[in-house]
Amino acid sequence: MAKNLCLARVRFWKGVAGVAAVGFVLCGSVALKADFTGSSHLVPLDEGAIQYSNANSYGPIEKLQERIDNGTTRLKHEPKHGYLLSLLDQLKVLQSSQMLVFSKTSLQRDLISPKTPRALYFNDDVYVGYIPNAPLLEISVADPKLGAVFYTIEQTKQDKPRLVRTNQCLECHASSKSMGVPGHLVRSFTTDEMGMVDFRSGTDLVTHRTPLAERWGGWYVTGAHGKQSHLGNLAGEAAFKRHAKEPSWGGNVTNLASRLDASRYPVTHSDIVALMVLEHQTHMHNFLTRLNYEATLRIARYGEVKYLDSPVEAFLKYLLFTEEAPLTAPISGTSRFTQEFSAQGPKDQQGRSLRDFDLKTRLFKYQCSFLIYSAAFEGLPGALKEKIYRRLWEVLSGQDTKPQFAKLSPTNRRAIIEILAATKTDLPAYWKSESSPTAPAPAAKVL
Ligand code: HEC
Repeated sequence: MAKNLCLARVRFWKGVAGVAAVGFVLCGSVALKADFTGSSHLVPLDEGAIQYSNANSYGPIEKLQERIDNGTTRLKHEPKHGYLLSLLDQLKVLQSSQMLVFSKTSLQRDLISPKTPRALYFNDDVYVGYIPNAPLLEISVADPKLGAVFYTIEQTKQDKPRLVRTNQCLECHASSKSMGVPGHLVRSFTTDEMGMVDFRSGTDLVTHRTPLAERWGGWYVTGAHGKQSHLGNLAGEAAFKRHAKEPSWGGNVTNLASRLDASRYPVTHSDIVALMVLEHQTHMHNFLTRLNYEATLRIARYGEVKYLDSPVEAFLKYLLFTEEAPLTAPISGTSRFTQEFSAQGPKDQQGRSLRDFDLKTRLFKYQCSFLIYSAAFEGLPGALKEKIYRRLWEVLSGQDTKPQFAKLSPTNRRAIIEILAATKTDLPAYWKSESSPTAPAPAAKVL
């Protein structure tokens, strides 16, 4: 037993070390923007209080497996998409969230090409990857304690299909690109006609901070976006050269029929709004994991989270979209994602929700991430969450006048306070009892 554990750890570290070396080559051209000092350094995942490889996860996948095993759920297999549709349905992932990526950047990269891109789907906690005729579906989950946890499921029909947890994926999914923790990725690369990536090109990581002009290399993008240019829908040198001369080329595509056989996928879109939400969300999940790891390690060693001010400040900036790349023209998607995503709420008495889109000058109407409701946020260690809530209150109530938050208008700060007060159950008492946004907060002692 001990021997096995030890071997697992050696294998794991070998994987991570390999990625660190690749990462060095990849980011030769573009420096990774650090959220806070040291935020991209690898955390030793299996040492001390974290124990990533040994810890069990009990999330949506384990719960689904239990239902399959005890016969309360049957995953339906169909000839065209295997288990995909039933899996999305069971995990409550919207088909309309579909996005298509054709750069060869995955475990099953040989099967991916501009003719057979990988489809990705997501909700607040789960991401699913599907390639037509591939042997495996790929799944990642944002576990509130462990960060990203990975699974595969075989696409051949079985009596009781198994969702198998695997650490193989950390080779790419735990590196400086995912804030040094097991995480989620969105990249943007130049590719050739077959989807082979030019590693000298591209951004390290796409988040809501990345200008649209640098996004979506290696992805299909369906939707309208006016004169804003991007690198989506381009494969091969000739396409990129033409785009360089004619930046609108490859843009405002609403139908992919001429590029691939879209009937092999559940829906025919690679929705621009879904892509933008994904890019906000993946970095948010990674940030939550990184904060959780930092706090867990500090609490195990010193019993407090006193010195986490700088990660918390950086997190607040991301949570509140302060550095979001501005939109210069309206955006609209092609699938039902925009409506279906925003309908999920939760809404306050006036019908307002953090999922309401703006899509004119920015992504969301109210600049506070909907992932504040997620299991990953709610599962942060209590002392850290209290620290975040305290600072969030100071910023939103207008007591904090620091320039980095100046982009948030007083009206929007007020609206966000009201929406959160009406919809969030775990806020500290001072949040709800202080009716005036300018009233001073009580001097509560924060650990
Ligand atoms: C060779 C590198 C590589 C390996 C190995 C890899 N992935 Fe990924 N994965 C990526 C990249 C890069 C992305 C971002 C999307 C893209 O560019 O294709 C990604 C995205 C994903 C996504 C979308 C959301 C997210 O978490 O980023 C899922 C789901 C996923 N991978 C699952 C897996 C699973 C499961 C495994 C292991 C069985 C795995 N991947 C192994 C490179 C890899």
